Amino acid sequence: MQARADVIAGVGLKDKPRKSRWPARMDLAQSVTGLLLGLFMWGHMFFVSSILLGKDAMWTVTKMFEGYFLFGRPYPVLVSFVVAAVIALFVLHALLALRKFPANYRQYRAFSAHRRLIRHGDTTLWWVQFMTGFALFFLASPHLFQMLVHPGLIGPFESADRVWSGGWWPLYLVLLFAVELHGGIGLYRLAVKWGWLQGADADASRRRLAVAKWTLTAFFLVLGLATLAAYMKIGYEHRDRAGERYVPARVQPAPVGGGGQ
Ligand code: HEM
Repeated sequence: MQARADVIAGVGLKDKPRKSRWPARMDLAQSVTGLLLGLFMWGHMFFVSSILLGKDAMWTVTKMFEGYFLFGRPYPVLVSFVVAAVIALFVLHALLALRKFPANYRQYRAFSAHRRLIRHGDTTLWWVQFMTGFALFFLASPHLFQMLVHPGLIGPFESADRVWSGGWWPLYLVLLFAVELHGGIGLYRLAVKWGWLQGADADASRRRLAVAKWTLTAFFLVLGLATLAAYMKIGYEHRDRAGERYVPARVQPAPVGGGGQ
């Protein structure tokens, strides 16, 4: 009997609200993972858009990541390591974001009514970030898995064939808008939250940040759309030879040997 009373007392003690550092730590972890993913996406967009400079330029970038210029032969598994790190960040970031999701329909209705009532720009941005973040769960996962298990199938023909003949372009089109809106809003909110680039006048700083955010989003959307169009065009022109690997003229073996063109 006494033991039971002790247990009940123990539970009571444990249930008392305690000051925990975990909510703050989780908030920081969410900011850090978001920042790293945002920076990765900037780099990713520049590397992927190398196709706009020509097939050889994109081939060179691809081979650089495979360690070709360092080891004399390509090791696509190096790309898988990078993808695995990105997946880890992505999963952690998404897991931490779940805390902020409305837990039931009542909460969702309450937030929606509140958002409509106050019509506050940054609150609406949070909503867009929440919706695009939810979409990213489903849109980014197939792409990440593809890159993880087939790192050797990245290249001017390989990527273009996937985009066109493989039918991936509709996914990329939606993914592009979701990720650019989500990332742009996320970086803006980070800057506001942690007081980056804040001058003496907080309102003026926030207006400047908002302009910078939309400029960056517009820039990456235009770059992304032009890049996607380039892969679609190459893929379309190459549709009859889909599956053939790209090898630049300068590294092609002598005419007797095999290899793509
Ligand atoms: C959260 C993570 C990621 C997101 C949201 C994402 C998003 C995208 C988007 C939107 C495109 C289409 C490009 C365009 O429209 O211009 C794309 C293409 C591409 N991405 Fe990613 N990406 C992610 C991670 C990665 C990783 C980790 C890699 C590999 C290292 C990668 C490699 C590529 C490649 C090579 C393409 C060109 C098309 C293809 O080969 O299928 N991405 N990505």
